[in-house]
Amino acid sequence: MRPSTLLSLALAAAPALVSASTRGTLGFSLGDKTADGKCKTTSDYETDFDNLKDLATLVRTYSGTECDTPQNILPAAKKKNFKVVLGIWVGAQDSDDTSTNDASFKKDFAALKKAVPGYEDVVEAITVGSETLYRGDQTGPSLHNYIGLVAKQFKTITVGTADSWNKFADGTADDLFTRDTEDAPLVTYVLANAFAYWQGTTAKEAYKTYFDDMSGAMAHIQKVAGTNSDKIHVINGETGWPTDGGSDYEAAKAGTDNAETFWQTGVCGMLAWGVDLFYFEAYDESWKPDSTGDNGKAMDEKHWGLMTADRKVKFNTTCPY
Ligand SMILES: *[C@@H]1O[C@H](CO)[C@@H](O)[C@H](O)[C@H]1NC(C)=O
Repeated sequence: MRPSTLLSLALAAAPALVSASTRGTLGFSLGDKTADGKCKTTSDYETDFDNLKDLATLVRTYSGTECDTPQNILPAAKKKNFKVVLGIWVGAQDSDDTSTNDASFKKDFAALKKAVPGYEDVVEAITVGSETLYRGDQTGPSLHNYIGLVAKQFKTITVGTADSWNKFADGTADDLFTRDTEDAPLVTYVLANAFAYWQGTTAKEAYKTYFDDMSGAMAHIQKVAGTNSDKIHVINGETGWPTDGGSDYEAAKAGTDNAETFWQTGVCGMLAWGVDLFYFEAYDESWKPDSTGDNGKAMDEKHWGLMTADRKVKFNTTCPY
């Protein structure tokens, strides 16, 4: 992974994409299941929003079909004055296949066509694909074709994508910012996920890695997009740190104190820099089974919430600046 650079270098790297005078907007990744693994209802989302509203009024979700998320969340968002980023899942296809026939995509796209009309004003954006480039499921050009299809359908809604920061920094995503046609318009809404935790940094040093990741993604997009770069909104799509009960990853140690350290330095710093971000995640997802980490070890997935499953904040979230 990229070595950390000084914050001042990070700040200098991406001037056109960051408005230094405006504080970034905080949003949250929001799961679609309750602590016992049942699909959330509209009323569950209303309670979620009531508990988040002093911190943020923007959330992102991931699937168009799992748990009927769009149908259930949009009425709650409308009632509670929240904005929602909806997701459309895109699966795997051969790297030389640029058709837009993926089955998950077709299902999620159809679900959004049904759920969104009447709620356009609460949809902040639609993201097509979630780390499809990182997984190697899509190429830049094939993903761009999917995004174009959705943009054509939802003409009044911003349509973009979410992927790991390094796929924006290493050129994999360049087609999104260099091709601007009717079928594949310039992509202007970019969620770059960046977890210093998964890069195995200590909580104290993590903010440097986090800033370096985001500035690397921004600087590369700015370079390839040229004069179009001021139309492109680069947002940190996910960041976070597991609290007590979570798993360690190399030098990145889970713990509530460490999560607070990362919040106060990384999250607060990123917002102060003027970058919008989504914290992963709002609430613990106690129903989640362990996964296998990049290090081959069982990884706990239940303790990433800023709040517990019963919606209590775990640490001091007031930013020092
Ligand atoms: C919470 O953090 C802020 C910013 O660092 C600090 O000013 C405040 O004193 C803290 N509050 C408590 C109760 O520790």
